[in-house]
Amino acid sequence: MFLGGRMSLAHACMPAILLALAISRATGKNECDLVGVKGSESTRELALLKRLEPLANESFTTTKDIGHEKYNYTFRVCREVDGGGTDAGLVQIDQAGKIIVVGRISETHIVNGTDWILLTYKGGEPYGSHCGTEKRKAMVMITCSRKALRGSFTILAEEREKDEECFYLFELESSVACLPVDSHLSVGSILLITFVSLVAVYIIGGFLYQRLVVGAKGMEQFPHFAFWQDMGNLVADGCDFVCRSKPRNVPNAYRGVGDDQLSEEPEERDDHLLPM
Ligand SMILES: *[C@@H]1O[C@H](CO)[C@@H](O)[C@H](O)[C@H]1NC(C)=O
Repeated sequence: MFLGGRMSLAHACMPAILLALAISRATGKNECDLVGVKGSESTRELALLKRLEPLANESFTTTKDIGHEKYNYTFRVCREVDGGGTDAGLVQIDQAGKIIVVGRISETHIVNGTDWILLTYKGGEPYGSHCGTEKRKAMVMITCSRKALRGSFTILAEEREKDEECFYLFELESSVACLPVDSHLSVGSILLITFVSLVAVYIIGGFLYQRLVVGAKGMEQFPHFAFWQDMGNLVADGCDFVCRSKPRNVPNAYRGVGDDQLSEEPEERDDHLLPM
């Protein structure tokens, strides 16, 4: 009875366990696998994986002519290439449609510098005769280009003349490789931007209101036109008062003769010519 109970418990758990396995397998395939089991991976590489995430939905292709042969290369960031097979992150397809896996997302390595990230997929299909029949390796240099998330993708070189450590080298331009610029706006510029925006809103809103609701024409369409005109006059007067070195309403010649100020002003103006 007791044994039977345990059996049925195990049976009941089976689907859940299978489901959990299936899920972990599915997500496992959808990610770059770094060296080390979960939890003991390099934090630096994990941080870089995060930075590459925006590229995960993209697929990149490039073509290379070698003599009369033409090869297509398809690359995905931390996702399997469609039809590439298990863990294929970068594949080569020849004209006949034969697929060779150059690198797998299950063997990912990432390093970075100030404006580049180097993504390496190892564990590709072994070379036939070159490079000591080691496994192929793809290196993708992602360089900073602020213009777009996905810039141009090109193959730079295929090194297979060495006895070992051969590689396929690619270049991809992307904004993910750029370090975020310090776009700290100073308090002053934030205030300035706010002020300018408010003025713009005021003028445009007021203009529309005057035109559409009040039905004003010409200069009257500006909001509070009379007020600003008065204000302008006041400011002009103020400037006149504060800044002008000569008294107002010069030159004298334009004044009416007999103006009562006429007798006073020349004296005033002579004042500062007198020796101290
Ligand atoms: C490399 O990437 C990490 C994580 O994004 C970043 O903190 C670090 O500054 C980068 N290294 C260089 C040299 O830019």
